[in-house]
Amino acid sequence: MACSSPLSISLLSSLTLILLLKISPGCRCHSIMGHNFSIKEAAVHDLQLAFKQNKLTSRQLVEFYLREISRLNPILKGVIEVNPDALYQADKADYEREAKAPGSQSRLHGIPVLLKDNIATKDKLNTTAGSFALVGSVVPRDAGVVTKLRKAGAIILGKASLGEWSHFRTARGPLAWSARGGQGKNPYTLGEPCGSSSGSSISVAANMVAVSLGTETDGSIICPASFNAVVGIKPTVGLTSRAGVIPISPRQDTVGPICRTVSDAVYVLDAIVGIDNNDNATIRASRYIPNGGYGQFLKVAGLRGKRLGIVRNPFFNFGNKTFLHQTFERHFKTLRQRGAILVDHLEIANIKTILDYNLSGEETALLSEFKISLNAYLNKLVASPVRTMADVIAFNNKNPELEMIKTIDQEQFLSAEATNGIGKAEKAALSNLSKLSRDGFVKLMTKNKLDALVTPDFSVSSVLAIGGFPGISVPAGYDTKGVPFGICFGGLRGSEPELIEIAYGFEQATKIRKPPF
Ligand SMILES: *[C@@H]1O[C@H](CO)[C@@H](O)[C@H](O)[C@H]1NC(C)=O
Ligand SMILES: *[C@@H]1O[C@H](CO)[C@@H](O)[C@H](O)[C@H]1NC(C)=O
Ligand SMILES: *[C@@H]1O[C@H](CO)[C@@H](O)[C@H](O)[C@H]1NC(C)=O
Ligand SMILES: *[C@@H]1O[C@H](CO)[C@@H](O)[C@H](O)[C@H]1NC(C)=O
Ligand SMILES: *[C@@H]1O[C@H](CO)[C@@H](O)[C@H](O)[C@H]1NC(C)=O
Ligand SMILES: *[C@@H]1O[C@H](CO)[C@@H](O)[C@H](O)[C@H]1NC(C)=O
Repeated sequence: MACSSPLSISLLSSLTLILLLKISPGCRCHSIMGHNFSIKEAAVHDLQLAFKQNKLTSRQLVEFYLREISRLNPILKGVIEVNPDALYQADKADYEREAKAPGSQSRLHGIPVLLKDNIATKDKLNTTAGSFALVGSVVPRDAGVVTKLRKAGAIILGKASLGEWSHFRTARGPLAWSARGGQGKNPYTLGEPCGSSSGSSISVAANMVAVSLGTETDGSIICPASFNAVVGIKPTVGLTSRAGVIPISPRQDTVGPICRTVSDAVYVLDAIVGIDNNDNATIRASRYIPNGGYGQFLKVAGLRGKRLGIVRNPFFNFGNKTFLHQTFERHFKTLRQRGAILVDHLEIANIKTILDYNLSGEETALLSEFKISLNAYLNKLVASPVRTMADVIAFNNKNPELEMIKTIDQEQFLSAEATNGIGKAEKAALSNLSKLSRDGFVKLMTKNKLDALVTPDFSVSSVLAIGGFPGISVPAGYDTKGVPFGICFGGLRGSEPELIEIAYGFEQATKIRKPPF
């Protein structure tokens, strides 16, 4: 879930950086089979073109990524498992493309995707949220989003590392560590990559996969996307199915793409949205899905006429002379030049309370919802060494070395286990959260007729989280220590079309992402 780390955390270890550079003498596989096509940094559109022009096969693409994973992952730790069937799936895609089989024209056909390890697959891969407690568990079926990805012809390359249990085992612990995945590293600095969708972000940033899926409860897509110079879409809650996703809260959880470009993220979004009868929230949210999908909003002139809100306090309290201040002032100028109307110096009512998850009631609500929904998830498994949250706590206590229980706490598990359903305190917290959202973000957006709120990095995450609102993070720069940071465009429920126009307009105007090596 959330991460409350400041923007500047960067534990650059020059020693390890040198080590990494030594192991990566530049990619030997830039050009495939004598052609001038480069897989590194290739977008989905480029890959499809290369398939079509017989410059590339899905097998070559998967072989490339498997090589890069074996080369880079020992240091970056973005991947927990690779799919033993990935090459088989690649051959199948190549065969289908050659035979012009129905579906082989789909955007994601033959494209490898990495899934955060809390997203279930009914195949040889484990689904464990990074914990040894769930090794050997058998899921009833693919997660709803995985069913849709397979239907679109995507290749499941493997499982991405994460903050263990989506960073809801402990609020104090590391953001990108899990017992099974180890400590994820930012490919730019080898420091903090943020979490909890750390591996999904690290892996696309370092070209270990084409595209990936993460999940967010509060900040877990927006933050690592920001830290790793990639694009993250946190969809409106319910737009994408959470069925088969190891949960924190059905009220806040959402599954979204993490990719190198806005267009790649939009193509993945198009593939995963829609009704899933195993997640009823998808029925209500399906009314937001536009006819013809989201790709139509990838317009270079997308910023024209958009009303963008700026809340300086607390989001832009950098100090007037700082590098970040200057960078964002430059971005504001670009947004204006591209036709956006900036509505500046706005305020969100009770913003201090909203950003403090203890005061707002968010923590109270999440702890209770976590116990209820995790117990329900574990109960539905076909087989599992753990069936309840209490079993997971006992497993951790029984395996202190494996789960590093002495150094990395499980206090949120203990607090959650101590809850007893949605009682008086939880109801009060939930009603607080709706009121804070209504009087705060909703009022700000409607009163000022805004299309989006613009904020730096992931600072807005709780504002979006508590109302189930969408947000898109786009690379916005690299700080004085080389740590990437993003710009986030957040909107009201169902505002993905406008957010995509804005995010794509900004990306095309700035093109800030650079590969890490
Ligand atoms: C590869 O070279 C051909 C011929 O020079 C050119 O038309 C094409 O655009 C190049 N492709 C890329 C991806 O650079
Ligand atoms: C799943 O976990 C088990 C136990 O650690 C391991 O033996 C197996 O290789 C894992 N599956 C994959 C596909 O990595
Ligand atoms: C969805 O809603 C229907 C009707 O209210 C209910 O019967 C069903 O159990 C719900 N399904 C899930 C997965 O919550
Ligand atoms: C920044 O500049 C504005 C307007 O010039 C001023 O009101 C504000 O106090 C300054 N803030 C800081 C931190 O210097
Ligand atoms: C929130 O409350 C918990 C205990 O309920 C405490 O451990 C934690 O430090 C508090 N966090 C903040 C940000 O105040
Ligand atoms: C609800 O908000 C009020 C302040 O607005 C606060 O005093 C109270 O503790 C909150 N209740 C919960 C359950 O979080």
